[in-house]
Formats: sequence, structure tokens, C-alpha cells
Amino acid sequence: MKFISIAEAIKKASGKVVVRGWIHRERGSNEFKFIILRDSSDIIQCVLKKEKFSDKWSDIDKLQIESSLEIEGTIKKDKRAPTGYEIEADKINIIGFSKDFPINKSLNEELLGDRRHLWLRSRKMTAIMKIRSRYVQAREQFFREQGFYRFDTPVLQPTQSEGGSTVFEVKYYDSKAYLAQTWQLYGEAAIFALEKVYNMGPTFRAEKSKTSRHLSEFWMAETEVAWWKLDEITEFAKKEIKYCLEKVGEDCAEEFKILGQDAKNILKIAKKKWPTIKYRDALKILQDKEGIKIPFGKDLRTIEEQKLMKHFDTPVVVTHYPKEVMAFYKPRDSKNKDEALCFDMLAPECGLEIVGGSERSLNIKEMSESLKKDGENPEDYSFYFDLRKYGSVPHSGYGVGIERVLQWICGLETIKDAIAFPRTMTRFKP
Ligand code: 4AD
Ligand code: MG
Repeated sequence: MKFISIAEAIKKASGKVVVRGWIHRERGSNEFKFIILRDSSDIIQCVLKKEKFSDKWSDIDKLQIESSLEIEGTIKKDKRAPTGYEIEADKINIIGFSKDFPINKSLNEELLGDRRHLWLRSRKMTAIMKIRSRYVQAREQFFREQGFYRFDTPVLQPTQSEGGSTVFEVKYYDSKAYLAQTWQLYGEAAIFALEKVYNMGPTFRAEKSKTSRHLSEFWMAETEVAWWKLDEITEFAKKEIKYCLEKVGEDCAEEFKILGQDAKNILKIAKKKWPTIKYRDALKILQDKEGIKIPFGKDLRTIEEQKLMKHFDTPVVVTHYPKEVMAFYKPRDSKNKDEALCFDMLAPECGLEIVGGSERSLNIKEMSESLKKDGENPEDYSFYFDLRKYGSVPHSGYGVGIERVLQWICGLETIKDAIAFPRTMTRFKP
């Protein structure tokens, strides 16, 4: 007989089946062994009666959590079983024993972190990894439908791009290189050939504080488009994220349930209108509704983003942050000279910044000055300035923090659970 997945076996609902997987839970008695078998699709209860397996019983009796097996038997409905079905086994083939699996309920975050390679098998991590996979697949689908080209760029780069204080320096033969803080500068070079480009890749920031929302290595999903201005790019960013939320909401209901979330909420949010407000409006909301007075000119802190987003039930795009505290490539608004043509998208309730983007400055002089202030040598950016010299056009782009989006929609306390092997200030193993 052919192996089928546990989900397929449950769908079949009766008759003979052959499945394989790992022991999720087990308990035994003198006459029975109950096994909850797990594969990538689902879990199912299997019962082995001693009378049928007298020759193999000593091995079966030894089976512990995470042993791998093949089981052939008859499936039937059973209300008491965790997923409503049970397989009564006729044959068992033990593939790999597992003794004293080192994961249990008493482990703290640190120990679970050390055993991350094993913890990935948990129902929680499996559900998150499935949602992540579906999200990223949906995004690829979206950009194909929208007529974009995927464009891949170097991780090893000659300069910083998002501020020297968080850049990782690496030895590059006899000189120095930096790990990518963003794909953007190269994405900008590509729009003169391809006009609409996107990518998703590992991105590095030496974040020197421990927070529940920062990783040292994360996956940024970036987009860059020729000709578009701020209003077009912000609406497009909403469209991208709504599209992906719809797909995960439709396809991952079971996974969200495992995480204590309701996929219907995600679908509801995806259907609503998402507002765009200005940074100055955000300051006003904070002052009027929260009694927090922030002078114009400061970036919003986590606590302020959280307080602001208590007042919204969808993501919100916040535009026109103060120019002085923004990255060098964010252009000055010619109408309000202290504001930049840039935006962040914040998630409801948790207030996470899930997207950052902007129009791109075309003013070499202003960018050079800003870089100098940050201790950079503008000559190192000559390739970037060339893009402004030969047929320069307005263009805009943004980057989505994939783990931030997952942290929000999966309701995760820490961003570390949004990625399989998190890298933080205090951990780069396993
Ligand atoms: O706002 P950021 O820094 O924007 C850029 O890097 C632009 N160059 C992107 C662009 O315009 N192409 O980062 C974009 C997003 C943030 O909004 C956040 O969601 C996420 O990346 N992000 C992080 N996620 C996890 N850990 C960190 N340390 C992050 N830093 C940024
Ligand atoms: Mg940002």
C-alpha cells in the first residue's frame, strides 16, 4: 500500500491506511500503547493492541516521544481522539528510536533557544512556519500578477545605508565590507532597466538593545518602482499586504487556531480601508487622546507607536516624518521643508512598524550633506549618485519586515518566534 499523509487519512475517514511520522505523545499500559502520531500535515491517535504485536512488544513498549514510525491499520471516527479519528494498527515499522527527547514543559526560553533545532517540531513552531511559508508564496504570486521583476542583490556591500550604528562589519580579504542593511540602493539601480522590482532577502542590523521586536538578522521584503510618488507607493504597499493577509487568512485557518488566533479577524482586516495619516496628525492623536506631548522632530518610540495604534483596528500608514531624523535618501517635502516624503506602516494594537518606505531623494548635494553628518564619505556613494546623473526619474519604494508582520498576525509575544533560527544580540546558535 502507498503511504498517505495523516491529513489525507483523516479525509479518507475509514478503511485501510498506511501513514508515517513521529510520536507526538504516547502512553502505554499492559495491553495497549496509545500513540499520537505527527507528520507535517496533522496528528492522529493510533492504538496498538499487545495481543496483535506480542513478538514486537518489547520494542513497542520502549517507544518514546519523537521516535519515527510507519503504521498500517484501519482508520475510524473516535470522538475521544484529539483530531476525531483513530487508527487501529495492524503493522508497525519502527524507523528510528528516540530516547529522552530534551524538550519539555519546564524549559525556559533560554533552554528552548539552545534546542531550537528540536523545538521546531512543536505544534506552535510548525504552525508559524506554515503561515510564514504561505505568506511568502502569496507575496511572490502578488508581484507576478502585478508585472514586477524579481531582482537579487549582494549581501556583502561596500557601505552602510541605514545608519552606521547598526551596521555589521566583516573582513573582506584585505579590506572591510558590510552586511546588507537593505536591498534598496541596488534596487534603485535596477529600476532604470526594469522599472518595477521586488525581492526578499536576509537583512542585518546590529541592534544593540534587547527588545521583543528586533532581530539582528531578519528578512526584508522590498519593492522599488520608477515614476511613482508617495501616494502611489503607500497605496501599493497596502495592496500588497492585504493580498497576502487574504491568502494566509483563507489557507491557514487551522494554523491560526493552534496559535490561539482567528483567521476570520485577519480576513476582516484585509477587507477594510486602511487610513493614511501624517506624522503631525499622529502627534495630535497622542496629545489629545493619550496626553503625550511629543515635539515635532522626534521619531516615534515603541511605546508611542503602541499608544497611537490603540486607536485603530487596521494598519495605518503614517507619512511625512521629520526630515532631520530620517535616513539620507529620504527627500525633503518642497511644500513643508521640515518633513520628508516618507512613510511607515504600523500594525493595529501591537503598534509594530511593519513597513518603512519613501520617495527617493534626487538631490545629490542634500544627500552628501546628510551622509557627512553621519560620518560617511559621500565619495563612497558615487555609484548611487550616478543614478541621479543619467536620466534621473522620481521613484519610490519600501521594505516590509516579514517577521514583524508574522509577529503581528500570529499574535507572538516575541519576534524571535517568527523566524526558525533567530539571531539577536545574545544569540547566534544553533
Ligand atoms: O524602516 P527600515 O529601516 O527601512 C529600510 O531599510 C528601507 N531601506 C526599506 C526600503 O525603503 N526599501 O526597515 C524596513 C522594515 C521596518 O519597517 C521593519 O518592519 C523591519 O524592516 N525591520 C526589522 N525587523 C526586525 N528586526 C529589525 N532589527 C528590523 N529593522 C527593521
Ligand atoms: Mg523604519
